Amino acid sequence: MALPEFLFTFIWVAVLLYFLWYLFMTDCDTILAIAEKFGKPVSDFAGKVIWVTGASTGLGEAMAYELASVGAKLILTARSKDLLQKVKEECIERSNGKLSKEDILVLPFDISNLECHKDHVENAINHFKKIDVLINNAARYQVGEIVKTDTEVDKTLFNVNYFGPLNLSKLLCKHFLQKGRGHIVVITSIAGKVGIPSTASYCGTKHALHGYFEALRMEYNRDNITVTTVCPGIFSSSIFEKTITTSTDKILQKDYDHYECVNMTSERCAHLALVASVNKLYESWVAYQPFLFMLWGAQYLSDVYKIVVGFLYSKKRINQLYEGKWPRDLLVWRPLLQNKVKTV
Ligand SMILES: NC(=O)c1ccc[n+]([C@@H]2O[C@H](COP(=O)([O-])OP(=O)(O)OC[C@H]3O[C@@H](n4cnc5c(N)ncnc54)[C@H](OP(=O)(O)O)[C@@H]3O)[C@@H](O)[C@H]2O)c1
Repeated sequence: MALPEFLFTFIWVAVLLYFLWYLFMTDCDTILAIAEKFGKPVSDFAGKVIWVTGASTGLGEAMAYELASVGAKLILTARSKDLLQKVKEECIERSNGKLSKEDILVLPFDISNLECHKDHVENAINHFKKIDVLINNAARYQVGEIVKTDTEVDKTLFNVNYFGPLNLSKLLCKHFLQKGRGHIVVITSIAGKVGIPSTASYCGTKHALHGYFEALRMEYNRDNITVTTVCPGIFSSSIFEKTITTSTDKILQKDYDHYECVNMTSERCAHLALVASVNKLYESWVAYQPFLFMLWGAQYLSDVYKIVVGFLYSKKRINQLYEGKWPRDLLVWRPLLQNKVKTV
């Protein structure tokens, strides 16, 4: 075989192998997979002061445990004081002597109540004298048909998922500018990159976060303020039990049947989000298939993605989504991919 012909074949085989790996073997985007193997470990966060919002359950709770286990000092916030207190005790236990009671500050508050943010930020800075990283994680989910959804639902979602993180980040940016550096991590979602039927308000809030924090990244790039956005697909947590539907007083209260189809644990998602953060990656995707592939399609083949996925969202499947059910027929091939289910 002549050399150019050999090179051509080699490139095609390499591209094919890459796609097979991406489809079947990984649970995150390529840069994050490389960072997990060869980049900085999460233990580089030891001694840093890290604020985790939404730390009472799910991803925030899992991130708090992993951060505590490497000796990071923590500010834990959410609405439920009791749950946060339990998370604090477990963090001390898991830190194996690296953290004492004073190294974890619990600040219970509703993130949509913007008026109280300034006092909490001052409290936290007084306590630790500095804050190194803010992880914006708190959020609510929503399902319901667009025309049946009260505007109050849209406002609630935006207050919790968008204006809350935005206001807190602004206050901390002032501190980071004085300190000369800082890091903001934003947990968005696959719904911040693509439109998903049945959850338009949630999609709106998560897309808005991408726009705002992309601008913040560019504005304060030269001031040593780093922004990392993490887009998870679906992982197990209690978010679907607290999901708002078409009005704010109607909660889905459903143990979403995603888990058995898309069984990423919140611990695995937390680990990858922290790897992305410690390596200061710009944007990371954490998901199993088909979500990882959807993100790839939406990013690199936008119009083709819209045509193909728009075709797959039939009326029947969209009606299932309104009820908080997954179109299982789309996921029948999931068992093929079970080999790549990873734990931390
Ligand atoms: N689970 C998934 O499949 C999935 C997929 C993609 C993205 N995400 C994102 O991942 C992040 C974590 O979600 P999760 O699945 O871990 O959900 P979760 O278990 O419900 O955790 C959400 C956290 O946010 C807090 N929170 C909710 N409303 C709040 C408010 N008004 N003020 C302050 N804190 C509030 C909750 O605590 P309190 O109720 O005690 O306030 C809880 O600690 C979210 O940003 C979510 O959008 C999740």
